[in-house]
Amino acid sequence: MSTPSLLILPGDGIGPEVMVEVRKVIDWFRAKRGLELEVSEDIVGGAAYDVHGTPITEETMTRAHAADAVLLGAVGGPKYDDLDFAVKPERALLRLRKELDLFANLRPAQCFDALADFSSLKRKVVAGLDIMIVRELTSGVYFGEPRGIFEEGNERVGINTQRYTESEIERVARAAFDLAMKRDRKLCSMEKANVMESGVLWREVVQRIGDAEYPDVELSHMYADAGAMQLVRWPKQFDVIVTDNLFGDLLSDVAAMLTGSLGMLPSASLGAPRANGRPAAMYEPVHGSAPDITGQGKANPIACILSFAMALRYSYDKGEEAARLERAIEAVLADGLRTGDLLGPAGGTPVGTADMGDAIVAALEAGL
Ligand code: IPM
Ligand code: MG
Repeated sequence: MSTPSLLILPGDGIGPEVMVEVRKVIDWFRAKRGLELEVSEDIVGGAAYDVHGTPITEETMTRAHAADAVLLGAVGGPKYDDLDFAVKPERALLRLRKELDLFANLRPAQCFDALADFSSLKRKVVAGLDIMIVRELTSGVYFGEPRGIFEEGNERVGINTQRYTESEIERVARAAFDLAMKRDRKLCSMEKANVMESGVLWREVVQRIGDAEYPDVELSHMYADAGAMQLVRWPKQFDVIVTDNLFGDLLSDVAAMLTGSLGMLPSASLGAPRANGRPAAMYEPVHGSAPDITGQGKANPIACILSFAMALRYSYDKGEEAARLERAIEAVLADGLRTGDLLGPAGGTPVGTADMGDAIVAALEAGL
């Protein structure tokens, strides 16, 4: 089999800065653990718009299709806010998700023990938290037609359409059930079946898949608004949550904040297995391009490094190496190292982006 490949798309804002630290980690795995990985890099988002007038070129799309996995930093920035929808940096992200058919977006929210006091919630509510949100990523109101701003009488009307087919619900439900089987066998599905037909169908299909194929998973349903409330009240009641594109966008930000910082959270967006058995895949930190701290060496590289850990696990079948990397990060946090986003009342040793990356590599080395 050919050498597994990774296409790195650093993007905009702090994307390129955190990616430098990921590169250090990749280099360590190659040198010390014999990891074989063919790494290439390209521009995307505002960076691509500046050069090519489009947030992602056809050539980059072709490379993304060909790669075993894509690792994306972040896209966007105030400079691009007034651009046309069609060429906004975010379009690159949406196009990659849609065209690679990455329908299952895995967003873990894990509270590192060393950071439990940093959450805005009490330690007892978040300590030991380990939940996984599975967000449908290629359909729903993000892509539904009709959409647009239209004239209606003497005023304009803005329209977006929430739309889900049974097969779209089935495949993301299966992805969530499969994950639940590997975890605590508990799945909570969230929609608004009380007001939306798409929610009624969603609930029905998830229940049917559960009954027929996953009798060992304890399945529950919640309205998404109640789910948001329960996530803040007592998040440890959840193991895996499955939800649609828009609710998943909101609920994963809520879940992220339980852990103390957006700077800590990775994500994986997976499609169906390809001919070589590997799923189409893109990995990215949940945080954005953070223009307010760009270029200052302050950004927390952990979310992006953890995204690479997810790539090791889901694309390269290297679960043990992924766990090794996660342990190294835990050790660095336990030592008290903190980027700015993690510096709370509990204190710690303030470090910059590069120092954090170096410390993680040193912890990997120490763990050998
Ligand atoms: C996310 C982001 C994106 C989304 C934006 C940048 C298009 O918020 O990945 O959660 O809304 O999906
Ligand atoms: Mg979001």
